[in-house]
Amino acid sequence: MKQSKRLTNNVTWVGKVDWELATFHGEEYSTWEGSTYNSYLIRDQKTVLIDTVWLPYAKEYVTNLKDEVDLKSIDAIVILHGEVDHSGALPELMREIPDTPIYCTNNGVKSLKGHYHGDWNFVPVKTGDTLDLGPSKLVFVEAPMLHWPDTMFAYYTGENILFSNDAFGQHLATESLFNDTVDQCELYAQAIKYYANILTPFSRLVKRKIEEVLAMNLPVDLICTSHGVVWRDDPLQIVHKYLEWADDYQENQIAIVFDTMWNGTRRMAEAIAAGIQEADKEVQVKVCHAGKRDKNDIVTEIFKSKAILLGSPTINNRYLSSIGGLVEMVKGLKFQKKKAAAFGSYGWSGESVKLLTDELKACGFEVVHDGFRTTWQPTEEVLEQCRDFGREFVSLL
Ligand code: FEO
Repeated sequence: MKQSKRLTNNVTWVGKVDWELATFHGEEYSTWEGSTYNSYLIRDQKTVLIDTVWLPYAKEYVTNLKDEVDLKSIDAIVILHGEVDHSGALPELMREIPDTPIYCTNNGVKSLKGHYHGDWNFVPVKTGDTLDLGPSKLVFVEAPMLHWPDTMFAYYTGENILFSNDAFGQHLATESLFNDTVDQCELYAQAIKYYANILTPFSRLVKRKIEEVLAMNLPVDLICTSHGVVWRDDPLQIVHKYLEWADDYQENQIAIVFDTMWNGTRRMAEAIAAGIQEADKEVQVKVCHAGKRDKNDIVTEIFKSKAILLGSPTINNRYLSSIGGLVEMVKGLKFQKKKAAAFGSYGWSGESVKLLTDELKACGFEVVHDGFRTTWQPTEEVLEQCRDFGREFVSLL
């Protein structure tokens, strides 16, 4: 049975839906809704394959591709980005068609050689270079750091299709494939999680690249990403959403992220949340236990927030490891224009609040309060002080 899906007259999806995928980038990114590795076959006067799939599915991919097309009729392969989830089936494929040219950026050549050590027929391309498919062509647009230095887009003039690779994608397994056929809440939850966890550090470049592509005034009937849905219903909706997200996005939300040993810091977190909500009935307050909740979901909540409160008890003169790991992630994501403060309980030395305050500054947050700490379990009086701290924090935003 053919696994492929016809998208348009000339373009067929030949990728893989991975319903089992639970983590991505090793164990770094949770993918509760699975993912897809989207690969596309363009059959114009020439036949071109865009991207492949992840390595574990290489044999299955090549077998399915043979059901769809005579491999020897493929005139060119385009690899928009060398990361293994898109290039993983290349070695298997190149064993069958070793001389087929591979179009990619110069950095793409480096990446593919680094991964596979194959002496293949690379054709490096730059922005504005084209691959003629007949009267129609593929136009290449380099898109460095969206999200790797090797990334590029390709625009198919024959059917007004933008092949955007990771940009505009989401880790969402779907059999129906199009953006208008999936649950919209799930779609946007996965899209914003993808942006928050992968693209945030490159927001300035995202904005500039999108403005550059929009200025070309190209008609876009489909955006074919490398993960998740193909955007066909109002395809530019996700482009405009990316412009919003790239512009130091924030909602009227405050995230309280904490870990706790004996519930003292948890009780503080809950009292602070109550104080915040009393002071501002409109603001969304999210309380996230860093030791129990998924780190990528917490990062997404931080991305959506205008301010963060970070809490931990003191242990070994420092703070709990779940908070330490999260701080490392957040530093790399380079969030902008968010305010913050720290809190926590302690029994003896009590360094955590001072250390977390320093870490918040190192993360690029504007620290608006010296923080709040208390000893042992908070009394009712201290819990009221926590509520005051929440109220005061709101007044400082
Ligand atoms: Fe989907 Fe950057 O790989």
